[in-house]
Amino acid sequence: MRLLVTGKIFTRGGLVDASVMVENGRITKIAKVIQEPADQVLDYHGKGRIVLPGLIDMHVHMRDFEYSHKEDFFTGTSAAAMGGFTVVADMPNTRPRVNRPDVLARREKVASNKSLVDYALYYGVPEREEDLRDEIQELAIGFKIFMQHEFYTDRRPLSERVLEFASRKNMPVVVHAENPKFFVETEMGPVGTPEAEASAIRDIAGAASDMGFPLHVTHTSSEAGLRELTAWKDKTGLTADTCPYYLLLNAEKARKMGGIGKVHPPIKSSRDSEALMRGLKDGRIDAIVSDHAPHPLEEKRDPRTASPGFPGLETTLPLLLTLVNRKVLEVEDVVRACAVSPSRILGLAGVGSIEEGKLGNLTVVDLHRKERIDPQTFASKGRYSPFEGMEVEGAALATVVRGEPVMLNGEIVGTKGWGKNVKTWY
Ligand code: DOR
Ligand code: ZN
Repeated sequence: MRLLVTGKIFTRGGLVDASVMVENGRITKIAKVIQEPADQVLDYHGKGRIVLPGLIDMHVHMRDFEYSHKEDFFTGTSAAAMGGFTVVADMPNTRPRVNRPDVLARREKVASNKSLVDYALYYGVPEREEDLRDEIQELAIGFKIFMQHEFYTDRRPLSERVLEFASRKNMPVVVHAENPKFFVETEMGPVGTPEAEASAIRDIAGAASDMGFPLHVTHTSSEAGLRELTAWKDKTGLTADTCPYYLLLNAEKARKMGGIGKVHPPIKSSRDSEALMRGLKDGRIDAIVSDHAPHPLEEKRDPRTASPGFPGLETTLPLLLTLVNRKVLEVEDVVRACAVSPSRILGLAGVGSIEEGKLGNLTVVDLHRKERIDPQTFASKGRYSPFEGMEVEGAALATVVRGEPVMLNGEIVGTKGWGKNVKTWY
């Protein structure tokens, strides 16, 4: 299969008017004009249209297994394709949890049967030390530690075994950093304060500095947390991400949304959002993730008992491109946060930029396409959003995974099962 994509191409040397040939999944040629015939040609010349490296979302919950009523790999990766994401990294807090080799193998089977886009799988803190086996590296990209339940509790010894294993294997450890000692009671139930985040980052970064595992702090939500990240960055090489809602919303707005605005860590003050935006601009925040975390709407009604989280794969890119249009971000910031950094952090050398020899993962965007966020159009099973009704400018026009278009002009065109585990790429 030979796919030819033409238009304004985002290359390392800047935007160039060019053609990209993808043959059998790999970029074989980038040139001003390519004469060779192709099986399919996508011409995306036009004002405001740019061909970007395929976007990577390093924090999503595809649910499935016993939570497939919330989302499954088909609907979740369809949401990814609609939102311009070519790779998603799936969290292990499923039922059953992905923290045993046999469950990881089952996860792989389900994901490979149903996915439209490529995926990575995280492994959770196991119940038994013997479930930390060398073979998990064949399917898992790294580990996820939910510190509140797995570091500040009697499960800590097992988390420490994970940290040792990850140090030995040089596998990334993604942490949800909140220390329950600094939780407060609110109308959304008990929630973490900025100090809860800062304290947890301090503790895990201290461990990273002693042990040497590659640490990634996910969904940073506070200025205090960012300050702590900054203090430890050089010493540990830690990396971090945040989510669009921590940049764009504040606690007051979230509170008015009731259960819909509930997420852990909670959305904080405007001052925190502004600090995070500065952190993103200056590179202290490496990546942006959606933390796509769908629950049925019935579970979002009562703020006190609502399940935390909401879908995000279909809103992340339009929100970020809206910030580009408002001149808050540059296209380069979006590419760095959603392609270059995630590929580096997860060790995915085959993607992250448009270059000969890399995989043919591409995201075509229209910077000026205007839409109102309408969750009823989502491919995700979660049909609500804290951004419902917002006017956004910018959207994905096409999503190409290893040379196969999986979304074209707002329609899913990929086939279920095309998506592959990134560990099986090479
Ligand atoms: O808001 C959240 N939702 N925070 C988490 O830590 C878990 C996630 C989920 O799985 O729904
Ligand atoms: Zn999450």
